[in-house]
Amino acid sequence: MKTNHPDVAEILISAEELDARVQALGAEISSVYQDKSPLLLSVLKGSVVFMADLMRTLTIPHAIDFMAVSSYGAATESSGVVRILKDLDTPIEGKDVLIVEDIIDSGHTLSYLRGLLLARNPASLRIVTLLSKPSRREVDVPVDWVGFDIPDKFVIGYGLDYDELYRDLPYIGVLKAHVYG
Ligand code: IMP
Ligand code: MG
Repeated sequence: MKTNHPDVAEILISAEELDARVQALGAEISSVYQDKSPLLLSVLKGSVVFMADLMRTLTIPHAIDFMAVSSYGAATESSGVVRILKDLDTPIEGKDVLIVEDIIDSGHTLSYLRGLLLARNPASLRIVTLLSKPSRREVDVPVDWVGFDIPDKFVIGYGLDYDELYRDLPYIGVLKAHVYG
């Protein structure tokens, strides 16, 4: 098991806590989509670890697909500018789509994505995010499931990166300020 990383100031959510919450989310999501077969849409790259764990807790049949949108790069502040880098492989018209996100910060990314996907006429569109920073919200986005509300701190691990690193940490940790300062 990987232990505390030297660049991590504090472990915010342990691997055990993540596992328990993902199991609970999976049970809720499975019951809402009973008799349906949703398409899980992972927003690359941060949500891949969450998606991989979440899908294995689901008791309903489901497909997966991926989309990539522009993110912060090496910076830690949202620009509010969103660009599609990779689109879905298949049309979503008439499908039950579940967006799987790693974290909602300002809300700009998800707000833009939601509008774009709704224009393609899915049967339904829901959102699950592992993390949310409510104090940072600039745009209101209707989110169906939130794993954890967290304070306004830059976090890494369990898929989340800083400058493409730390995604492999099995917990959610707070990055030491000197790393990006
Ligand atoms: P938003 O558009 O401001 O809501 O930004 C959402 C995206 O910003 C997420 O999908 C992440 O890629 C990135 N992000 C926001 N906060 C953090 C953080 O604390 N750690 C790592 N990535 C973050
Ligand atoms: Mg993301």
